[in-house]
Amino acid sequence: MSTSTTETDYINAVKQAMDKAYAPYSNYPVGALIVTENGQTFAGCNVENASYPEGNCAETAAIAAMVMAGHQRIQKIYIMSQDDQGATPCGGCRQRIREFSDNNTPVILCSTTGVQRRLPLAELLPHAFGPEFLL
Ligand code: THU
Repeated sequence: MSTSTTETDYINAVKQAMDKAYAPYSNYPVGALIVTENGQTFAGCNVENASYPEGNCAETAAIAAMVMAGHQRIQKIYIMSQDDQGATPCGGCRQRIREFSDNNTPVILCSTTGVQRRLPLAELLPHAFGPEFLL
């Protein structure tokens, strides 16, 4: 996406990701779209399987795509579900996002109609344990 990308473009992209979800067991499709510091985007969807606990979250897939492309900083992340309140990331994904973010990184929770809430990561994961404790 170019530098003139608008939020509507991001919403459309995260919706496209959500529409690719493979979620036949939960019927709860999720999309995630990471925008990196240089404006590149990486999308992911949840992918379930018959062994229920072995499925992957959308955020996990987007993070893997970002890292595989050589990026390690999240500028912001959009997450979409069909819930009217917007998606909210699971605890594990909050920690995964934290690894490549800071406390102020916007986590933008979307429903299919658009942005519902914009929260700094610290509101979702207060007093986070992060890589700075170890590195
Ligand atoms: N899910 C995500 O993809 N991200 C989250 O942060 C919350 C949950 C997925 C996992 C599973 O495929 C479905 O939503 C229902 O839990």
